Amino acid sequence: MKVLVIHGPNLDRLGARDPDHYGSQTLDEVNAHIEKVAGELGMTVEIHQSAIEGEIVQLLQAAEGAAGAVVNPAAYSHTSRAIAEAIASVPYPVVEVHLSNIHAREPWRRRSVTAESSVGIIAGFKSESYALALRAIKELVEGA
Ligand code: DQA
Repeated sequence: MKVLVIHGPNLDRLGARDPDHYGSQTLDEVNAHIEKVAGELGMTVEIHQSAIEGEIVQLLQAAEGAAGAVVNPAAYSHTSRAIAEAIASVPYPVVEVHLSNIHAREPWRRRSVTAESSVGIIAGFKSESYALALRAIKELVEGA
């Protein structure tokens, strides 16, 4: 089972960026955790990080054969109709993740337009949010 993982803008700064909200792990460490959990679940993951809205749209569209996708659109969650429409257009389930609990932060972060097209959202568990999202996709695909 192949799963696409996309990290949005500024997530390449993990480790240095606001550890109270995002944890102290670097993106490489988060990715190593994702790879480990995916292996335990019998999944293969294709992981990307992009700060470019259109590139995220293209990555979603190019993954037609994926069983699902785990996407942290980062700040684009709050603004991007293009990513929301890409998520709505793909044939596989997309689980949105956030390291921080966006509902316990500034008012502008509490709305995610991309979550409106996603099958579900997991927020607030730092890097474990990604692991929980992989489990959710396995459940969705195998429980179907
Ligand atoms: C984030 C939350 C967003 O509001 C923020 O812009 C990010 C990271 C998270 O993972 O908690 O870049 O998506």
